[in-house]
Amino acid sequence: MKRNEKHDELYENQELELFEYQLTPEGLKLTWSDRTQAIFHPIWLRENSNHPDNRDPGTKLRITQAAFLPLDLTVKSVECDNHGNLQLDFSDGHRCQYHHNELRQCFQNPRPHDLGSDRRYWDNSFLEFDRYDYRKLCHDDDTLLTLLNTVAEFGFAFVHRIPVEMDAVEHFAKRVGPIRETNWGTVTDVHIIPNPYDLTMTALSLSPHVDNPYRLPGPGYIFMHCLKNDAVGGESTIVDGFAAALKLKEIDSVAFETLTTIQPNFRHTEDTAILEDTGPIIELSEKGEIKRIRYSNRTEQVPPLDVEQLSRYYYARQAFASIICSDEMTLKIKLTPGDGFVWDNYRILHGRTAFDPTTGERHMRHCYMDRDTVSSRHKVLLRQRGWL
Ligand SMILES: [Fe+2]
Repeated sequence: MKRNEKHDELYENQELELFEYQLTPEGLKLTWSDRTQAIFHPIWLRENSNHPDNRDPGTKLRITQAAFLPLDLTVKSVECDNHGNLQLDFSDGHRCQYHHNELRQCFQNPRPHDLGSDRRYWDNSFLEFDRYDYRKLCHDDDTLLTLLNTVAEFGFAFVHRIPVEMDAVEHFAKRVGPIRETNWGTVTDVHIIPNPYDLTMTALSLSPHVDNPYRLPGPGYIFMHCLKNDAVGGESTIVDGFAAALKLKEIDSVAFETLTTIQPNFRHTEDTAILEDTGPIIELSEKGEIKRIRYSNRTEQVPPLDVEQLSRYYYARQAFASIICSDEMTLKIKLTPGDGFVWDNYRILHGRTAFDPTTGERHMRHCYMDRDTVSSRHKVLLRQRGWL
């Protein structure tokens, strides 16, 4: 099975030698054989100590009050053995040990909070995506890890040979973790009903969108399963929202900046629920990387900002919508019974073409999962293989 590039990089780092270590007025300075240098603050080293005086060995939780460590704390001495273990003595009497690789990892690859991987962007030419066999996925953790790596890299993974049974999507999702329950329950049917409370329950086409940006937190991942799809039309569409945002940035950086700063509201109301949240259409991380897409024409409620701001916003939104609705960016797939998808609802926009209900039936079922559930499962699988 494949290991993603980030973990290869980490693995390679474990081959590095520690070239030099020294105590400086700022803290512990390490230099590795590739000449990379880092200085570690004494309090950082002290509060992250794995010694049982600092961290409960069973729960791995900190038991000292890090906030009350002396602000003038210093590392009094450091020694390194032949295996690269650094023994530290602190001015408050604490002793602990780190391996230099451990410190290098903390410095170079801080643990991601979310599903971590190097992303690969795609457009409608991406037809050779992997197809995972559900039966193998059910019993083989290596296959599950590869599927989660694929979701991390491309934002989605395609699964086939799922049993054509009503509760199959639940089993599919629970292979990863607990399902997110909402006011609609755990699993939602997407098919025509007499009094629809959502456009998904009609035969109309659905333009690219993310699901439920009015929830807090918004659904992190979506699991979908096709039970029937023999009507004319009804193709599923998906778009890489991050690729679309990068394209907008390349074409019109002002429009990109506008969509990262102006924050529309998103709202959904029904008899028993009033759901609202706010956020930019393109959300960036503290590092300036694209973190999340919120594009939901049906539920967006733009506040009455001043005319200049709104003109700028409407121009930018139209520029982005033109990209995400273009054939060039859209993958169209006609699902057949037993097919399924899992996708990142913060990255992938989805939709469908209209279908003719007089020619057949279309019935999908889907459910949501929180982001921490998916990233936790991914990390545990990596840890079990010694890659985390
Ligand atoms: Fe949707």
